[in-house]
Amino acid sequence: MPAVSHSPSTRTWVLSTPATSYAVRVDDSGSPRHLHWGGPLTLDQAASLPLSGNQGHSSNEGRSPVGEELPVDGGERYGAPSLQVRFADGTRALEWAFDGHGVEEDPERRCTTLRLHFRDRYYPLRITLGYQVHGDSDVIERWTELTNTSAADGDASDGDASAANAVDLLRADSAAWSLPPRDDYRLSHTTGMWAAETQLHRTQIPYGETVLTSRRGTTSHHAQPWAMVDAGDADEQHGQVWSTALAWSGTWRITVQRTPDNLLGLTAGAGHDGILLRLAPGETHTTPRLAGLYSTAGFGGTSRSWHAHIRAHVLPHPDETRPVLYNSWEATGFAVTQEGQQRLAAHAAAAGAELFVMDDGWFGARRNDRAGLGDWTPHPGAFPDGLQPLVDEVHRLGMQFGLWVEPEMVNPDSDLYRAHPDWVLHYPHRQRTELRNQLVLNFARPDVAEWAYGWLTRLVGDHGIDYLKWDMNRPFTEAGWPELGGAPGAQDRLWTDYVRNYYGVLDRLRVDHPALRIEACSSGGGRVDLAVLARTDQVWISDNTDGSDRLLIQDGYTQIYPVRTMAAWVTDVPNQQSGRSVPLRFRFHSAMSGLLGLGGDLNEWSPEELKEAEGYVSEYKTIRHLVQHGVLHRLRAPQTHAVTAVQYSSADAGEAVVFGWLQQPRFGRPQPPLRLAALDPAARYREQRTGAVHHGATLLERGLDLPLPAGDWSSAVVHLVRV
Ligand code: DGJ
Repeated sequence: MPAVSHSPSTRTWVLSTPATSYAVRVDDSGSPRHLHWGGPLTLDQAASLPLSGNQGHSSNEGRSPVGEELPVDGGERYGAPSLQVRFADGTRALEWAFDGHGVEEDPERRCTTLRLHFRDRYYPLRITLGYQVHGDSDVIERWTELTNTSAADGDASDGDASAANAVDLLRADSAAWSLPPRDDYRLSHTTGMWAAETQLHRTQIPYGETVLTSRRGTTSHHAQPWAMVDAGDADEQHGQVWSTALAWSGTWRITVQRTPDNLLGLTAGAGHDGILLRLAPGETHTTPRLAGLYSTAGFGGTSRSWHAHIRAHVLPHPDETRPVLYNSWEATGFAVTQEGQQRLAAHAAAAGAELFVMDDGWFGARRNDRAGLGDWTPHPGAFPDGLQPLVDEVHRLGMQFGLWVEPEMVNPDSDLYRAHPDWVLHYPHRQRTELRNQLVLNFARPDVAEWAYGWLTRLVGDHGIDYLKWDMNRPFTEAGWPELGGAPGAQDRLWTDYVRNYYGVLDRLRVDHPALRIEACSSGGGRVDLAVLARTDQVWISDNTDGSDRLLIQDGYTQIYPVRTMAAWVTDVPNQQSGRSVPLRFRFHSAMSGLLGLGGDLNEWSPEELKEAEGYVSEYKTIRHLVQHGVLHRLRAPQTHAVTAVQYSSADAGEAVVFGWLQQPRFGRPQPPLRLAALDPAARYREQRTGAVHHGATLLERGLDLPLPAGDWSSAVVHLVRV
């Protein structure tokens, strides 16, 4: 099947991925309608499908919000609009007219793009619906391009030159998805908060509208911009699951609609309620991409398909093996000094770390969180000769050097703020709300973004820095840009331009310094999404380093995002966030199931602990090819089982590593063997630690007895290699 097929007589298009089809039709009124999202259909089969969502029985129903490719505000439509516009004369209703289509092949990026072109029947708006598929993935990427096609009106006298012919976008979602009718629907999504991100929920979808959103300026800790829907009958291994994920790092909204007649649709895009995007004549707004995936392999298969897609088409360096890092934050807080960091670096190198990251506190007057943010020169007392001696020492120890930065923020007590008080988000007659004693720099301003790019590229270039941890520690408040005046939408553009400039600085840094690797962080996992993953190499997914809390956070994170991006550190006990003391072995096993890092105060670890740590780090290096590049199978979920277990296997079933954690065993309640996944039943596998050999078939049928030691906080790792 070609990636895109088209029937001109029925105005039907079918997008084909390896295991799925997606079909669209332009109806007689010229609007784009949804036909099918599911298993493979030929063009003929798809063209024979009835349009869904026609509710012609009564004058009271109108068009269903489910069944259109991009439900607009206009005509007999009453659902949550994906596209809501207001033209210069105050008219709001949009009327579709079809203007043709285009198909493009891009052999280099291995993708095919379909564009369906429309315009408003009367007003100057062009609307293009974009669809992109790849030959090796069932993910369909969608977006919308909106152009104000009117000619500029030069005689506007109110100072707002574009007002006369402006087109206001009150809502501009990337796309809407329609599901086939089912008896019931269930939503899987994550919620969270600082230090408790990505907590997975599966709940029956209520009738009406369910909104997942962030109004914080960033993706947020509180909800992730993705959703999975099933009919309530999928499980980890089986069942139909429809899922979607948005590539945007600012505010966003996903609206799930279950109509009174039991249809289910989703619309999603950037921006939150009340924001206006004004398109000047000639201007185009391209929405972020919204990716969708249909799978018949349950939640586990859905996750694996997302992981494969993100590795193949999103991550900048997917095949790279991420180093074991050391991070100083929990060890030293702000009290960083050259001498102290060098002592930590020596221990870290001895334990096997390959990348040493100096966290917050190294610059300006930063000795706590009250001063210095924004002044990006080394603290003269802590680094009398600048950063270079530490960088050189870390390199001499055989590690890469990484540095923490928070380019989007400023403490009012800083030279930067004293020089540029107008650079922060603010309104003239409103207070400037400080959170963690800091204000948000208006990254939407080109001069602010240029300033950040300038010092960052110099810092990296001058010192030979290998890695940046880019942090962002508070949401927006008083999101104003007074210099842009009071015209409708004038200042609202900052919600979009801020994010684009954040991307722009990251993109430019990567071009300037091809060897530079970047960690995304926002007080832990406050800014993770497909767009961040496209520009960074790994993510600090939570400030919660408790080895047991992490199992839940990691489970939620990996529902969509690959383990290859999921950083996890082993820190001290009692844990700084939870106060819990979990044994070193459990802490290591928890962190070894992601990108292993060390984050404890190694100066205080006993020689025995350091020795033990060295053992785990070297064991990790023998299995990380599976953890980072293998295929994840969740064998037992932390929410539902006493034992949490995950397996990572090589694609050819030649090897697997299994992790198991049991927080509190109960006497007299044995744990059944773990039935493994994705092994060759005809092969035999040797446990690397004990030498014991198992048949693949028995590991699949009966299962593996996990060697869990007795007592609380028990954990085990088993590495199996085909004999
Ligand atoms: C929040 C991050 O999540 C921490 O890891 C650490 O970098 C602190 N910020 C530093 O202020």
